[in-house]
Amino acid sequence: MTATQENTVGKPVDRVDGVAKTTGAAQFTADFPYPDLAHAALVHATISRGRVTSIDTAAASAFPGVITVISHQNAPALKPPAKPSIMDLSTMASGTTVNYLQDDKVYWDGQPVAVVVAETSYAAREAAALVRVEYETVESSVDFSASEHDATLDKGSSIMPAGAKKGDAQAALAEAAVSVDMRLTTPPYNHNALEPHSTIAKWEGDKLTVHDASQALDWFRSHLALRFGIPTANVRVIAPYVGGGFGGKGSVWPGTILAAMAARATGRPVRLVLTREGVYRTVGGRTPSIQRVALGADREGNLTALIHTSVARTGRAGGSFEQITTSSRHLYASPNILLEQRSVVQDLIPNTAMRAPGESIGTFALEAAMDELASRLGMDPIELRMRNEPDRNPLDGKAFSHRMLREAYALGAERFGWHNRTPEPRSMRDGRWLVGMGVASAYHPSWLFTANVTVRLSADGTVLVRCGFQEMGMGGATAQSQIAADALGVPLDAVRVEYGDSALPTAPAAGGSMQTASVANSLLEACGQLKQSVAALAKRSGTTGESYQTILKKANVPHVEAVIGSETRLGKLTGQVRFMAKFLRERRWVKAATGAQFCEVRVEKDTGEVRVSRWTGVFDVGTVINPKTAASQLRGGIVMGIGMALAEETLVDPRSGRIMNPSLAEYHVPVHADIPKIDVTWLGDPDPTMPLGLLGLGEVGITGAAAAVANAVYHATGKRINDLPITLDKVF
Ligand code: MOS
Repeated sequence: MTATQENTVGKPVDRVDGVAKTTGAAQFTADFPYPDLAHAALVHATISRGRVTSIDTAAASAFPGVITVISHQNAPALKPPAKPSIMDLSTMASGTTVNYLQDDKVYWDGQPVAVVVAETSYAAREAAALVRVEYETVESSVDFSASEHDATLDKGSSIMPAGAKKGDAQAALAEAAVSVDMRLTTPPYNHNALEPHSTIAKWEGDKLTVHDASQALDWFRSHLALRFGIPTANVRVIAPYVGGGFGGKGSVWPGTILAAMAARATGRPVRLVLTREGVYRTVGGRTPSIQRVALGADREGNLTALIHTSVARTGRAGGSFEQITTSSRHLYASPNILLEQRSVVQDLIPNTAMRAPGESIGTFALEAAMDELASRLGMDPIELRMRNEPDRNPLDGKAFSHRMLREAYALGAERFGWHNRTPEPRSMRDGRWLVGMGVASAYHPSWLFTANVTVRLSADGTVLVRCGFQEMGMGGATAQSQIAADALGVPLDAVRVEYGDSALPTAPAAGGSMQTASVANSLLEACGQLKQSVAALAKRSGTTGESYQTILKKANVPHVEAVIGSETRLGKLTGQVRFMAKFLRERRWVKAATGAQFCEVRVEKDTGEVRVSRWTGVFDVGTVINPKTAASQLRGGIVMGIGMALAEETLVDPRSGRIMNPSLAEYHVPVHADIPKIDVTWLGDPDPTMPLGLLGLGEVGITGAAAAVANAVYHATGKRINDLPITLDKVF
């Protein structure tokens, strides 16, 4: 029916948005011009719990250019967030449970207690510093390390399990020939997307248009409608470009709400760009954790007991438990398994999702403990892992839809040169540097949600894909263009994809590494329908075998369109139910992206300075749509993992609950000089149960990475550091 096109899936084609981004043509949220734009800045609470007793806005209001100062004393009414429910995922969109500026209560140090609106952002920020607030404080709990024993058991759900038990792990541990029992800690981490959270809000009557750096357009839309008491159809959220999110832009945080409130109060479009400090104060980060991993094995290295327990924290004003032990459900065969998660409620900003929430810190603990067990057994750490590589899911015997960790380790060992490693710690040296090599497994579950998509083929042969998904720089738009081009047999440049606008067909949030597969699922269905429609047209007009252009022209049809999903309330509910049914059906498989991380470090023999000198990651992520964007995603994850291991740490004052390092000068992320060339590759074997065989790869790269670093440091120095980050004061 069409000219044979060479497939683009699997080819490293350039990003469709690459030129716009590198030439500055791309409009990020704060770049949208409005002639009468006003600017907002936040005033943050300086206590962790209590209430505002007085607020003096006189000096701020008198500051040149200030339009208004909004506090709980004069704020327009706002509705409280909904109770989170699994049946309506948009209810999960609220970062906190606070109804901002509706009363005098303070739930965390940093909570906005006033908004200043001015003619310029400078005036707004300057005036915000002039607002005088007095407080009455209530005793608060902000010291995580001192609160471990206040933690209560996470309940979890069938979709998000929080614990598991098989056999008697405690007894098996006590009887094990060889065992380890480790306590490990990870600090809080904050998102540092290149683009800070930004919002422009504009009202026209009861209609709200919001430009927002969001990774969940549909959730933001529903949530804003709920808070401002208007129909969902009256809200439009626009974000064609998002400068990184990592989970920090998946929930609606106060800045978005308060920008919309300020716009309503002033009758002007209002822009609120958070300062870097503002991001730390008003956007939740990753929970800290205290973890125990205890492993028992026989002398041959067969695991007999696996215990993984964790303590994390949520906020008094929201947040939810972190699935720290998830990967321990799936990584190793053991007859006895005990997994438990606890959380403590604290008077700090609620935690939120951050790249591979749960798995990234959970794999640090599990994989460091496996390394220690290998060392005690006198066994190669890869061999120990392979010995305990399960054929089926360890807890319940379910089949894996895909599992190629053996192949990943074999290929990784070869690429990395693992055979050059001498097993003894401190046995490898290069001048003044102690050299160490470490491995760890990566694990991240694969998900699929419903997505609404329309695909239109025009008589000129061009294809328009419309789907309100989010592009945070991952390459999603490029991947979907490739998928549509191949499915319809047209050249890549004949395809245009519209995304980043809630007015488009509804897509799921960009999170959980599921966007590409979820959108592809519907896109493939749409392209299939479209081809059938065109074939029927061709049959009627006797043009079977001709080009799309000829068929449409002969049939005198300007375009043919396929529509997947419905935008009505009922249609969306049906979609949700269909998703749940599919989800339950598919629970017969355990699906995940996995990988083998290989890290080489050099540790300065006297100062303890740790440098990562080489890296190889081999991943089982199913089909890779675009090797160029996929490699970037995997490398980005590994860089973030190296940050976790060696540098990043949000410091909370244990007396006041105030974040002490809310800037990139004081919160250290790896820079180019810290990162060597990262060798990433993948096995490329399609998963039989996922669309096009792709398992998702946005998050798997960070998992296992911190453990690979810690294990390499152990190998270099003989010192096992169980408290991240591995700063040089901990090395010697
Ligand atoms: Mo995320 S933590 O953006 O899936």
